Amino acid sequence: MSRPLIHILATGGTIAGVSHTDHPAGRYTAGVRPVAPLLAAVPGLDDLAELSADQILSLDSKDMRPADWQSMLSACRRALTSPAVEGVVILHGTDTLEETAWFLHLTLPAGKPVVLTGAMRPADHPEADGPANILDAVRLATLPEARDKGVLITLNGRIHGARSLRKYHASQLDAFSSTQYWNLARADGRFAAHDLAPLPRVDILAGYAGAPACLVDACINSGARGLVLALAGQGSVPESWRAALARARDKGIPVIRASRCSGHIPRNGNADDDGEGYLTAGDLPPLKARIALMLALAAGMEQPEIQALLPTL
Ligand code: SIN
Repeated sequence: MSRPLIHILATGGTIAGVSHTDHPAGRYTAGVRPVAPLLAAVPGLDDLAELSADQILSLDSKDMRPADWQSMLSACRRALTSPAVEGVVILHGTDTLEETAWFLHLTLPAGKPVVLTGAMRPADHPEADGPANILDAVRLATLPEARDKGVLITLNGRIHGARSLRKYHASQLDAFSSTQYWNLARADGRFAAHDLAPLPRVDILAGYAGAPACLVDACINSGARGLVLALAGQGSVPESWRAALARARDKGIPVIRASRCSGHIPRNGNADDDGEGYLTAGDLPPLKARIALMLALAAGMEQPEIQALLPTL
């Protein structure tokens, strides 16, 4: 019986990590082992699918740049347009996986499955979690039920959609959470038709007790094209920031009010958004609002259009 062809894109991460022998704290270097031995270490993989693979990056995902997301997007688009390929699996570091997943969710068209996976233990760990995660990811990418769901993520035996995915634990195997059952996930692809290069710089600023307003000016004066504020509670803007944020507004820099908490931020709720010129993130967390803003700016959208878009994502 012919097996489905799944294309693997390897980008590095702990799943390709190798330990420093004798390091007392168990240090390792991510993104060292190439994709061929990673796949060869997965029992039963060949029975599930025929595989092709590209090593597109070899990074610790903390060093992932927006330009790398775009390389990944091009590699996905190339693979998905091949009639022979049934799905794509991306091997990725877990630290910024939720950002890449969301970027690809917004930029890939509906259709064939795209599944991201990673691992919390390096490839040479005696109980490495990477092989089981790769097996699950490839299996998921072969399933008709995984089509038209947008980008899916599987780790530690669980499947997540990209919209609400969050890495919430620094070390345990079950490091990710999401609030949406994967089978309810829907493809988005809002920016699939756009030519997006290059993505503009958008910075995230955290609101915390004593956060100085000079950070706002530093971002703007060093070239940020947009700001996302990761604020306390329902997106409460520190009084001490208001003058600096007004300077940003006067320069035409979009400023999004988002929250460090989960939950919805009502527009004109605890800030005069219309008067101050703030955009509001709805219930998008700051990391995801940032990517949405980068894509919207790259697509040439103006602030009213961006505000109309945000609650619909
Ligand atoms: C990384 O994100 O590349 C390192 C950490 C991990 O993969 O768990």
